Amino acid sequence: MRMSTNIRERLIFSIAGLMLVVFCGSAFAAGVSKEMRAAFTRPAKAPEPADNKSTPARVALGKALFFDPRLSGSNFISCGTCHNPALGWSDGQKTAIGHGMQVLGRATPTVLNTAYQRFQFWDGRARTLEEQAVGPIQAAGEMNQNMDELVAELKAIPGYVSMFDKAYGKEGISEKTIGKAIAAFERTVVSSEAPFDRWLKGDKKAMNQSAQRGFDLFRGKANCVSCHQGFNFTDDGFHNLGLKGSEDEGRFAIKAIKSMKGAFKTPTLRDVALTAPYMHNGTYATLEEVVEHYNRGGDVTENLDPNMRKLGLTKQEVKDVVEFMRALTGKPVSITVPHLPTVN
Ligand code: HEC
Ligand code: HEC
Repeated sequence: MRMSTNIRERLIFSIAGLMLVVFCGSAFAAGVSKEMRAAFTRPAKAPEPADNKSTPARVALGKALFFDPRLSGSNFISCGTCHNPALGWSDGQKTAIGHGMQVLGRATPTVLNTAYQRFQFWDGRARTLEEQAVGPIQAAGEMNQNMDELVAELKAIPGYVSMFDKAYGKEGISEKTIGKAIAAFERTVVSSEAPFDRWLKGDKKAMNQSAQRGFDLFRGKANCVSCHQGFNFTDDGFHNLGLKGSEDEGRFAIKAIKSMKGAFKTPTLRDVALTAPYMHNGTYATLEEVVEHYNRGGDVTENLDPNMRKLGLTKQEVKDVVEFMRALTGKPVSITVPHLPTVN
């Protein structure tokens, strides 16, 4: 017996419908689509420049320099003073405290995952880690060191002479190789696997229900993903979030176009539970306060980023977004502080 086209179509539709329900059901149970997994998975390797490929000797030298207070004018402040591994590679201060206990204008960002960033500093004024590293050494407010003096000091320490030799051979000890070594070390400072990553790989219990709802909100109603994207949760862009009481012009000092006035780089959200307080001026003490800021749509409307608007999140939804950010925080990577080369 021939089915009428009408019945046949209906049959096909209902079978297709059933398959869709089954398919969606299983996709929903798995919670993670292929595309989503691809979008948030760590790249196989952090990018590194051709003239500074990582070697164990370079990383070891960079690590020594990073933790050596003799890199500062006072011989008292190292990179690790402000970027303290025990504090999520930051300092726990609202804004940094530099040479002579000066309180600086901006918060210390973490060095975790800076290897993946297209720009360094809140205003993106350095492009590479090599270029960035030699900045704070010479900045009067930070380490207040004269570069020529530093090079001479390092040349007088036999342990460093041999370490530079192993790491950079003929290139010798210079501003350039100091920057390169520190950058090579920083590329090893990356976030560990977080509950979110395990969940992404299919471990459904790795994130609790609240964090899972938080991830949906993050990509939906709360619209966080318009700026915090990909494995490192940043778009490498600059935005004005309408923070109250900030007079800092941010990116505008580097790129004088109106939309950049008061705009700062989107920071990573990896290990973010470890690095309070938050924002370029350290204005918020907790992640709840940060999400409430977004929920209000910011405070100052002048030059506000077009992606900032009132969100209408309930109290529970705010908690869920915070819970999701906690799930982006892995077990801190253990690090041993190096023994530094001595003059004798
Ligand atoms: C006095 C505290 C202090 C010291 C010492 C210090 N930093 Fe920083 N670091 C900061 C602050 C504050 C910023 C942000 C400044 C800005 O954006 O204008 C920063 C920014 C950075 C960034 C950019 C991170 C990002 O996400 O944009 C890196 C990388 C970095 N520092 C590495 C280093 C290295 C390497 C050293 C040692 C050579 C060092 N810092 C010494 C406070 C410090
Ligand atoms: C318009 C782009 C944009 C949107 C939308 C956005 N962010 Fe941000 N986020 C940024 C920028 C830019 C900063 C740094 C701003 C500053 O310091 O002036 C930031 C800072 C943060 C910080 C502080 C991190 C630190 O290390 O100081 C957290 C936490 C954060 N955002 C979470 C979220 C969450 C959660 C959402 C969604 C509710 C969200 N963001 C939506 C761009 C955005």
